[in-house]
Amino acid sequence: MSQTRPESAEACAGANIAIVKYWGKRDVSRNLPAGSSLSLTLRELETTTRVSFTSQLTQDDVQLGGEPAPPVFARRVSKFLDRIRRLAGLKLSARVQTANSFPTAAGLASSASGFAALAVAACRAAGLTPGIDQLATLARLGSGSATRSLLGGFVELQAGTRSDGADCRVRELGDAADWPLNLLVAVVGEGPKSLSSTAGMQHTVQSSPLYPAFLEANAADLPLARDAVTSRDLQTLGKIAERSCLRMHAAAAGAAPGVLYFRGPTVELIHAVRRARNEGLYGYFTIDAGPHVKVLCESDAVDALRERLLAVDGVSRVLVASPGPGARTVDPEQVDADR
Ligand code: PMV
Repeated sequence: MSQTRPESAEACAGANIAIVKYWGKRDVSRNLPAGSSLSLTLRELETTTRVSFTSQLTQDDVQLGGEPAPPVFARRVSKFLDRIRRLAGLKLSARVQTANSFPTAAGLASSASGFAALAVAACRAAGLTPGIDQLATLARLGSGSATRSLLGGFVELQAGTRSDGADCRVRELGDAADWPLNLLVAVVGEGPKSLSSTAGMQHTVQSSPLYPAFLEANAADLPLARDAVTSRDLQTLGKIAERSCLRMHAAAAGAAPGVLYFRGPTVELIHAVRRARNEGLYGYFTIDAGPHVKVLCESDAVDALRERLLAVDGVSRVLVASPGPGARTVDPEQVDADR
């Protein structure tokens, strides 16, 4: 999987939000998920990353939003690049310039779009041309959910059972383009989250008696969610999204000590979404490893639902996102990642 190496390459990827959640790994060193998940890739919550391997540097130079990246972030990127360097037989350090169109590390899936964009840009800059399965393995080693941002619209990540991870695969569930959907993101505070998803899920696996029940319930929900996507059934998909999310957070809260990502406004937002639904305004919430609430709805409900979410105390803004494409290079001469 190699070709002539360009001087640098740029790629972008949208964040994805899981409808059926992944929480916990079956193999930490290979970063293999314990359960399968289903997500929606978003157009507006995007990471753009440029990677240049150069002899002018003696160590990687990682910039986030035009500033030197925090050391923990920079080390994670360098570790990821080491894999690419090994695969490509490259000894050069890299300049990495990455920017998000939304708050970083706050439970808005920036690691998903970030590692998907980094995987595509770094492979291209290193002269590698991986197929989707190889690319998925690379992205997964950066962040479990990053695999799903490689593809567009509704995406399923199959956990697989093989110890080498060869059957941990990602696939697109058809084009979401003919389904006018939106995802509203009610932002609750802009700071970084209190506990990373990696740490939170590991702690849940190790100490929550509720974790096996979460896994079992999610496995049962996955085919139902897949069918709801195929039949464009928002009501069924939305109900699955809400219970998958609440079960994930219940499993986390049942750890010792309990992990709680909700803030006060998170709970108020859940009630606001349910109240709106009782009044015929259909939206369905989901929440990841942070306090923000994402609401899935059809496009004609966006304006009214947005008003409802903005009216909740503690909500600083509401972003409106829509289904988007998978990760892609943005160099004019380069077509999308080989898939
Ligand atoms: O990508 P990770 O390993 O940080 O995990 C993300 C986990 C959740 O966002 C909470 C759920 C999911 O399936 O995306």
